[in-house]
Amino acid sequence: MTRHSNRIFAERGLDRAALDAEMVQLRAKDRQWNELKNLRAAYDGGDDVTAVANAAFLAQIGDNMIYSSSAYPSLRQHEQGVIAMVGEMLNAPEGAVGSITTGGTESILMAVKAARDWARATKPRATQPEMIVPRTAHAAFNKAGELLGVKVVRMIESPGYRADIEGMTHAINGNTIMLVGSAPPYPYALVDPLTELSGLALEHELWLHVDACVGGFVLPFVRELGHEVPGFDFLLPGVASMSADLHKYGYSGRGASVLMIRSEVLAKYQGFHFDAWPAGVYYTASVAGSRNGGAVASSYAVMRYLGRSGYRERVAAMLESKRRIGEGLVRIGDLGILGRPEGTHFSIVASDVDMYALGDGLNDRGWLFLRGKEPRAIQLQLNARHGAIVDEFLADVREVAGLVQANKIEGRGGGPVYIA
Ligand SMILES: Cc1ncc(COP(=O)(O)O)c(C=O)c1O
Repeated sequence: MTRHSNRIFAERGLDRAALDAEMVQLRAKDRQWNELKNLRAAYDGGDDVTAVANAAFLAQIGDNMIYSSSAYPSLRQHEQGVIAMVGEMLNAPEGAVGSITTGGTESILMAVKAARDWARATKPRATQPEMIVPRTAHAAFNKAGELLGVKVVRMIESPGYRADIEGMTHAINGNTIMLVGSAPPYPYALVDPLTELSGLALEHELWLHVDACVGGFVLPFVRELGHEVPGFDFLLPGVASMSADLHKYGYSGRGASVLMIRSEVLAKYQGFHFDAWPAGVYYTASVAGSRNGGAVASSYAVMRYLGRSGYRERVAAMLESKRRIGEGLVRIGDLGILGRPEGTHFSIVASDVDMYALGDGLNDRGWLFLRGKEPRAIQLQLNARHGAIVDEFLADVREVAGLVQANKIEGRGGGPVYIA
């Protein structure tokens, strides 16, 4: 949020040249989103993919999804095409229902809304609805809980850095309506034991949401490449809904995610319907009213451009970078990847190096990445182009870790921050 202070809303607008100069000048300190040293959330599938995503976005940037059925039939087709492809990718059963939202947070919000209204209809005794989430579940579940009046029971433990199945089982009570697992979560990046969660959901008749915002466009292809991936999708019978972000490893322009719900019976609780006003029927399946058609067009175009093999090749490249980084860290000594993450983001931890100081030293050399606490970690989110910087990154890690251990670099004490 921005506090109102200065006055720049001038009576007369700028001429185009002055405006262009101001816009360039205002961006002077910005980083380039996909510069190679950016190892956090820079979902770059390659210049050709970005060109496809941007062209489709720009072509329909003025089109509003809310009028798609009356004015932009192509947007309806794009959405249906994306849902069909994503449904297939996530092994959704025939009759599953999907929608495109503006991002992972909105997909999660709508999943919680659907679960809440489903429970209102089918579990009248759950008068104070609760959802049980692992310690690592994304903050968006708490945002959803707060907005929708669903209490969030967040586990304190994270055994083996995955969901605490025992704790979640014990937390189930008459008000529980929903369980959450992530494939994989943002912190730690290890896929939760979703087979167990699926069993638990079926046994107690609870709504299980799998947050595959990051992994939705990764894990299916890790699997196709022949690596073992524990169950994470609709093949698990207890999974009621999944979120998978197009604007992450789906490589679309920003503002697109898919929420997939197992059946029409469950999906009917997602939407919002209202007609008691002078403008007639209003129905949306998302929080947002107006939505940019460009994001939807971009999603469709990229998926059609890449096909399964395009995604698979990019995942293969990222897994190779992960392997090289993991092996390189072990050679440096005391550093390593936390656990055995199945996907393409992971935490780097150490037992004897101050990770915040290492992080600061690497930031000073231009590297951008996420950070984790408990344990202190630096977290990398690889993209398909990062193979080009693996050696340089490892060389800097080696040097900076040496300086930290020799007390020549002191950390500035900063932990992870994730503020918009
Ligand atoms: C696992 C997970 N879920 C949900 C989200 C939220 O996605 P968004 O930022 O698109 O709202 C993120 C974002 O990084 C995430 O990593």
